[in-house]
Parts: sequence; structure tokens; C-alpha cells
Amino acid sequence: MRDPHAYRLGILGSGKGSNAAAIADACAAGTLPARVAVVISDVANAAILDRARERGLEALYIAPGKFRSKLDEAAEAAYLQALRKAEVDLVVLAGFMRILKGEILRAFAHKVVNIHPALLPAFPGLEAWKQALEYGVKTTGVTVHFVDQGIDTGPIIAQETTPVLPGDTAETLHARIQEVEHKLYPVVIGALARGEIWVEGRQTVWRNHDREAA
Ligand code: GRF
Repeated sequence: MRDPHAYRLGILGSGKGSNAAAIADACAAGTLPARVAVVISDVANAAILDRARERGLEALYIAPGKFRSKLDEAAEAAYLQALRKAEVDLVVLAGFMRILKGEILRAFAHKVVNIHPALLPAFPGLEAWKQALEYGVKTTGVTVHFVDQGIDTGPIIAQETTPVLPGDTAETLHARIQEVEHKLYPVVIGALARGEIWVEGRQTVWRNHDREAA
């Protein structure tokens, strides 16, 4: 049955969907006070859609249109329509490989979040864990941030560090980063669902922020 009080998530992703799965499982376990209303992908055979369907969630492929790195206008309108139809409160980007430019950001002002596999503003863009490894940093991590029109530039909500260990490969480092992602993203989304986070310019404020207790 549809719970009229639930905080409803619309998850957008292009890849394997491990964050979407972690979020959906936290909702199902009751540790995250929200529900996944819809999962949308720009890749027809993306594993994220299988992960959603396995869990009985609505999973949609919506074609991205004619550009490579963003949605075209008609596609963005179709995404927005699907998010509205699902009565989404928060748009959660989880490995969505396209920049949002227009309608969705206007319709969901400060209601679109992203997770990035590095400590922003270091290593924005693609395969950030590889960038960090090649640069030679000893510590990297995960950032959850609000989405604006730039690439990984919106106000930062939370960051968690991860060590880079001797002998790390891109794969081992990414796996360690993803473990952190799967814990951090549900915690941040839970705080957003409870209305405990808001934005003041570049700053985000957490009310009663106690990560250990979260
Ligand atoms: C994650 O590492 C996330 O930080 C980045 O894309 C990856 C998505 O992984 N934005 P998954 O599809 O959730 O497994």
C-alpha cells in the first residue's frame, strides 16, 4: 500500500547500481525513513534496473536523446514527467553519467543530490578513484553534495575519508570507496528525509548532526 507520509526517492543511475541497492535495502530494513518510488536509467540494459526490479521497485529506461554527456531537452522533460508521476521528494543521482542542466534542477531546487568517489573539490569528473591513485594521494574518500549545473560543484553535505594503501589498484581502491558510499549515502538521505539538512549559500547545515548516532 502507498504510504502517504513516506519520503519518496527517485534514483537515477547508469551503471551497476550498488548504491541504489544499498539505499533500497536501508529503506526496506527501516534504517532509512524513505522509500524508493522509481529508478530511472539512461542505459537500457544497466544493472541498476535489474537491481530495482529484483526488489520489486519501479524501474524505467528513458532514452537520453542526442547528446553524449547530458540529457537533451525532450529527454529531460520525460525524466521530469516520470519523477513527478512517481511523486518524488528527492532526486538521488547514483552513478548517473549525464549532467543535469535545466528543468529538473529548477523543479527540484536543492532536492537533487549526488555521490562522488573522491574528496571534492579534488578529482571531479570521471573515475575519480583512478585520478586519486595516479596523483599519489594517501587519503581520498567520498563526497555527498547537492547538484548544481556544474560538474561535481554543488554545496557539499558530507565527506568521509578512505586511505589509499600500498599496493592498491584502481579496483581495490574503488571497492574500498564503495563500501564507504553504501553507508554514507543512506545516512545523508535519512537526514534529508527528516528535514535536518538545509543550504545557506555554499554551506550546508545539519541540525543535531551526530554521525555516530545516525
Ligand atoms: C559510484 O562510485 C559513485 O560514487 C559514482 O558512480 C559510482 C556508481 O556506482 N558517482 P554504483 O552504480 O552505485 O555501483
